[in-house]
Amino acid sequence: MEVIITSDPESGAKTGARFIEKLVRTKPAATLGLATGSTPLGLYRELIRLHREAGLDFSGVTTFNLDEYVGLGADHPASYHHFMHEELFRHLNIPPGQIHIPDGTAGDIPAYCRKYEETIRAAGGIDLQLLGIGHDGHIGFNEPISSLASRTRLKTLTQGTIDANQRFFSSPGEVPRHVITMGVGTIMEAHVCLLLAFGEAKADAVAAMVEGPLTANVPASALQMHPHTTVIADEAAAKKLRRADYYRFVEANKPAFQRDATFALRS
Ligand code: PGA
Repeated sequence: MEVIITSDPESGAKTGARFIEKLVRTKPAATLGLATGSTPLGLYRELIRLHREAGLDFSGVTTFNLDEYVGLGADHPASYHHFMHEELFRHLNIPPGQIHIPDGTAGDIPAYCRKYEETIRAAGGIDLQLLGIGHDGHIGFNEPISSLASRTRLKTLTQGTIDANQRFFSSPGEVPRHVITMGVGTIMEAHVCLLLAFGEAKADAVAAMVEGPLTANVPASALQMHPHTTVIADEAAAKKLRRADYYRFVEANKPAFQRDATFALRS
């Protein structure tokens, strides 16, 4: 695991966007795994800026989102379809046929989830998976004790996650209890994982993920077994890391070839 500590969320978002920019410039037909929530918004804004001002072309890119609420259609304002369209896709030039988000209205959910996995495989797998982290250590919507080998499936949210997500809905009772999410095993097959975490409220989860035991109780800790994971945390989210000085030392002394963010990416 690589841990990059940035002074603030803005520089963290820019650092993360640079990984994606490098990948897309090196491999125009890249497959990106994308995330929702507050965390990736700054990174998405930077990608939009790079598209508008620096000619970053997304026309060959294929995307797969991590998750969606069960029961919410694409037109629901709190659906992740709506979020992704508003915050990213309507500003870029990814052809709609190359965009994949789990369908929260699918009838036969297990069959739909198998098909989602097959579509990822048929696209050649995910080159870079963008991730946030929940307060409880979830990635995607893989709540504590999710199997570390899990695949795309239906999950029931914890009360903590339901409470955290209430802000996107007009009333608390509206937050769905169920979601479709890529599994931890699905995420682990991405060639590179890029996890962003900002703010003090994420400090415990970040410490548990990076320095705690590998446990299904903290699904993000599975990333300790992933060969190319970069965690970008701001000072506040990195506050409880016991080895923060070492991570800063690694960053300050990075060999030139490692400074090029593409070194871990496949072309
Ligand atoms: P957030 O959510 O980005 O809104 O904090 C992260 C997550 O739950 O994965």
